[in-house]
Amino acid sequence: MSDPMRASGAKEFTPGWVGAAAAAEPPSAPGGARPAISFAYGVPDPALFPAEALAAAGKDALLQHGDRALQYGAVLGLPQLIAGLLARLRDREGLDLAPGQCLITAGSSQAIGLVAHALIAPGDAVLLETPAWPGVINALRRYQARAIPVPMDQEGLDPAALEQTLARLQAEGVRPKLLYTVPTYQNPTGITMTAGRRAAVLALARRYDLLILEDDAYRDIAFDAPPPPSLLALDVDGRVLRTGTYSKILAAGLRLGWLLGPAAAISRISAVKDDGGTSPFASYVTATFAEAGALEAHIALLVNAYREKRDAMLRALERAFPPGAQWTRPAGGFFIWVTLPEGLDSGALLPRARAAGVDFLPGRACFPDPADGARYIRLAFSQGTPDEIEDGIARLAGVIAAAR
Ligand SMILES: Cc1ncc(COP(=O)(O)O)c(C=O)c1O
Repeated sequence: MSDPMRASGAKEFTPGWVGAAAAAEPPSAPGGARPAISFAYGVPDPALFPAEALAAAGKDALLQHGDRALQYGAVLGLPQLIAGLLARLRDREGLDLAPGQCLITAGSSQAIGLVAHALIAPGDAVLLETPAWPGVINALRRYQARAIPVPMDQEGLDPAALEQTLARLQAEGVRPKLLYTVPTYQNPTGITMTAGRRAAVLALARRYDLLILEDDAYRDIAFDAPPPPSLLALDVDGRVLRTGTYSKILAAGLRLGWLLGPAAAISRISAVKDDGGTSPFASYVTATFAEAGALEAHIALLVNAYREKRDAMLRALERAFPPGAQWTRPAGGFFIWVTLPEGLDSGALLPRARAAGVDFLPGRACFPDPADGARYIRLAFSQGTPDEIEDGIARLAGVIAAAR
C-alpha cells in the first residue's frame, strides 16, 4: 500500500466511534435467517468486560471512599489513578513523569478535544497523518482547523512527505499548530511507525519547531513483540503530547483516558477543563481494580482474545478475498485496512454488504477530503467471535466478487 493510499475518491462521511451505539445493533440479514456482524467500529468486545471485578471495585470505591468518590474532584484527576498510571509507564516504558505531567480526561477523545480547544483557532493549519481516525477528523472540523493531510505507507507516517509539507507551509508563511499521529497500531490502518521513522519525524519536529499530538490508544493491545518507544519517550525537548485510554484495556463506558506531556502544556490545557474533575467515581473504580493487580492479567487476556480475532480475519481474507485486493497485517490494535481491486468503490459496496449481513467503514470516512479514500475499507476485528469474523469476511468477499 503506497500510492493508492495517497489519492483516491469518494464522498460519504461516516462517523467512527461516534457511531458506536449504532454498532451495538448490527445490520440485519435478509429474512433474519443468518446472524449479522459489524466490522464498522473499533468497539471493544463486551464479552471481555470484567464486570464482576469492576462491581467489586465499585463497591469498594463507594464503601471505602464514598465521601470522595461521590464528590467533585481535582482538575488533573484522582491522585491515586495518576500515581498508578505513572508507575505503570515507568515499569513498562521507563518513562519518568511527574504527576503534573498527566491530566485524566473523559476518554482520550476529551483529551484531544481539550488540546484542540486550548491550541487551535479557526483557520489554523493542523498536520494530519492520513488516513486518519474519523473521530479526530470530526474534532478538527468542530474547531474549524485546516486539516493538512500527510500520507503514510507501510512504515507509518512518511517523513519525506512531512518535510515537503513543512517546507511548503513555511514558504507560505504558515505555521502548523500541531501534527496528529497514531504511530502505534494505527486507526484505521493497523500500521506501526518504525523506530527509524519515529526518530526522523521528531528530528523534523525539532527543525520546524512543531508540536506533536501522539494518540496512543492501542499501545497495550500488542500481539507480537512490544511496539517501538513512543514519540513521547523519544522526545528530548518537550514537544510531544501523548493521549491514552482505559477504553481499550478495561472498559469504554468508564470514559477514562489521559493526556501526558510537559507540565507547562498540561497546565495550559487543564485550564480549559472546567468540569469539576473527570469522574472521581470511575477513577476510584479503575484505581482500585488496577491496585488489586488485576489490570495486567486483564490486558493479557484481552491481547490473547484480540490476537485470535485478528488471526481469524487474516485467515479469512487470505481464503476468500479476490486477487488484486491487499490488506495490512497489524501487530496490534483493532483494525485491518483493505485496498480493494482497481475500480471498486467501498461506498457503493456498503449497502450490498449490509444486505448480506455485514458492515464496514468505507475508507472515505478516514480522509479529511471526502474526495479521497473510495478504494479502501476499514475492518475492525474487535467484535464477534473468530467464527463470526470468518463468516462475515466470507460474506463480504461474496459482495466484492459480485461487484467485479
Ligand atoms: C485512535 C483513537 N483515538 C482515540 C479514541 C477515543 O477513545 P476514548 O475516547 O474512548 O478514549 C479512539 C476510539 O476508537 C481511537 O481509535
